[in-house]
This record gives sequence, structure tokens and C-alpha cells, in this order.
Amino acid sequence: MSQLFSIPDFEAAAEKSVVQGAWERIQGGAADELTVRWNREAWQQIRLRPRVLVDVSKLDTRTNLFGQEMPFPILLAPTGAQGLLYPNGDLEVAAGAAAAQATLVISSSASLRVEVIARHTNAPVWFQIYVQRDRGFTKDLVQRAEDSGCRALCVTVDSPSHGTRDREQRARSGLPVRELPNFAGQDYLDPTLSWKDIDWLLSFARTPVLLKGILDVDDADQSIKAGVAGIMVSNHGGRNLDTAPATADALPQIADRVAGRVPIIVDGGIRRGTDILKALALGAAAVQIGRPYLYGLCVAGAEGVALVVSLLRKELELAMMLTGRATIASINRAVLW
Ligand SMILES: Cc1cc2nc3c(=O)[nH]c(=O)nc-3n(C[C@H](O)[C@H](O)[C@H](O)COP(=O)(O)O)c2cc1C
Repeated sequence: MSQLFSIPDFEAAAEKSVVQGAWERIQGGAADELTVRWNREAWQQIRLRPRVLVDVSKLDTRTNLFGQEMPFPILLAPTGAQGLLYPNGDLEVAAGAAAAQATLVISSSASLRVEVIARHTNAPVWFQIYVQRDRGFTKDLVQRAEDSGCRALCVTVDSPSHGTRDREQRARSGLPVRELPNFAGQDYLDPTLSWKDIDWLLSFARTPVLLKGILDVDDADQSIKAGVAGIMVSNHGGRNLDTAPATADALPQIADRVAGRVPIIVDGGIRRGTDILKALALGAAAVQIGRPYLYGLCVAGAEGVALVVSLLRKELELAMMLTGRATIASINRAVLW
């Protein structure tokens, strides 16, 4: 790992570390993978404005979300393929998050039960849920996650179905069947899910509830009216609706409509500290990374996960210095060219 200096370096090394089928599963997106590509391109196309002669000798990247103080605004997004990538992948990710002091959003499609992962780690953990057709089971699952220490609940709302995942489909024959121990059965997406189910979840959740997968301004507005604590601007890493816009393109409109009422977390294509700075400038309170930490997992388990996070953290700090921003609060749209 001493020769890996960036996420692109980790990406190249990861491809060589796992079997082809597992690689296609993490790397692939929906259909022609245009949204996957646009997620990257949209961050890259934004120009930054260097500023000079600002004392940036003391940087402060601390961020507070729902009363939880984080040393830097990077979370590990929920991903469900970890057991395929590394022995005990879910526990390695959780250990890597703890070593890096990052908050981990545990996926409900993890290869282990949420309580096993949550209890195994010192990292702050949140829980992502796909609401099950069986609402009683769903309620139990939420309570299991809360009881095991998950501090927030992210309800993924962009998946009445998975997208057209051609690449993953082609690779599937070479992979073991995925275990989904958090769910009652294999058919775990519910296309009947609607706003009334969010009201229902909010009626008993004991932790802040966020909706994950918001791209539309009216949906953002309705989320807040429903009473959620935060929203996650996400196109599921380009894995659901191909030709949906890049999250960097959706974020400014949504931030304008949300107007600071709740924090926004964004994910999709974040691969550089400069991407994180741009996301914060466009109105996000924090970002999530998905594939980048999976690359770290493929290469070196927990150590790889931790190194990926610390590389991005370092890059964010450098980007802040070079744009004259010593604190997160001082990052605004004037950072952009
Ligand atoms: C292999 C893989 C599995 C994922 N599994 C889930 C999941 O179980 N639940 C969910 O809400 N999002 C899931 N996602 C989406 C991520 O949470 C996140 O939105 C996305 O990966 C961010 O984009 P990035 O990979 O470009 O950073 C998954 C993504 C990947 C790559």
C-alpha cells in the first residue's frame, strides 16, 4: 500500500485484488453507466478559486450532525457487497471506519446482521434500511438497529426496484449467492413504498431519520414537510436510473430549496478532497463515499479502508488551505470559480 497515494491508485489496485465477478459488482452501474460517468465528470468540471494570504495554519474540519460531532465531514455510505470482497468484509469495514474515526452507515443488505457489525466496532454507526413488505418485520429491524447503537436511520427511497444492471448480471454466474441475513426473504425491495410509510417510520423511530436517494427539489421539500431530520442527495452511485443527473448537478438546486432547514449529505463520484470541498461549497453538510472505501477493503481489509478515508481527509485539508478556508463554516459558493 505504500505506493498508493490516491483513490484512483486504490481503484487500480483493487481491480487486481478481487475476482472479476466481485469487481463488476462493485464497479458496475445501471445500463450504459452514463450516470456513473457523469457523477465523476460533474465534480471534475467545477473550477475552484484559489485565495491567498489567509492564515490557514490551523485547520478545523469538525462537523456536527444531529448532535454528533465528527472530526471531518466524510461518512462511509451503506454498501451491501462487502462479504464478497474480503473475508469478514463487513467487520473489516467497521474496523477501518473506527481506525479512521469515520461514521459508518451499515447497509441493511450487509452480509452480517446489523447488531453483529454494530457491536463489533467503536466507530459511530448509522443504519440504512430498505423498508420490507412486512411492516412488522421492518419495525423490528429498525428497533434492533437502534438497540444495537445505530445513531441515525437512513431510509433508501430511490429503489422501488434495482436498475438495469447489465454488467452485474453478466458477472453474476461467477459469484456465490448473496446472503441477506437482515431480511426475512430475498425479495427485499417494496415498490408500494410511499410518503405515508415515511410518516409511519417517523412515528416510532427514536433516532434522526434521513431519506437517501433524493434528486428532485419537490421531493426534498416534501421530505422536510414530512419531518425528516436530513436528506441524502444520491443517485445510488449511478446504479439505479441511468441518465439521472450527476449528484453535483442536482445538489445546488436542492440546497437552494432546502435553504438550511435540514442538513444535506451528498454521495456519488466523490474521489478527491477537492470534490468534498465543492460539495460543501454547493450546500452539503457532509459527503459519503461508497466505492472508494470498497477499493480499500479489496486491497487490504480494514487497513485499506482506513487509509482511503485518511487520504481523502488529507486532500480535503489541502484543498481548504489552497482556497483560504480554515474552517468548514467558511466554505461557501465563493470557493467556486
Ligand atoms: C457495491 C455497492 C453496494 C451498494 N449497496 C447499497 C445498499 O445496500 N443500500 C443503499 O442505500 N445504497 C447502496 N449503494 C449505494 C451507496 O450507498 C452510495 O449511494 C454510492 O455508492 C455512492 O457513490 P460512489 O460509489 O460513487 O461513492 C451501494 C453501492 C455500491 C457500489
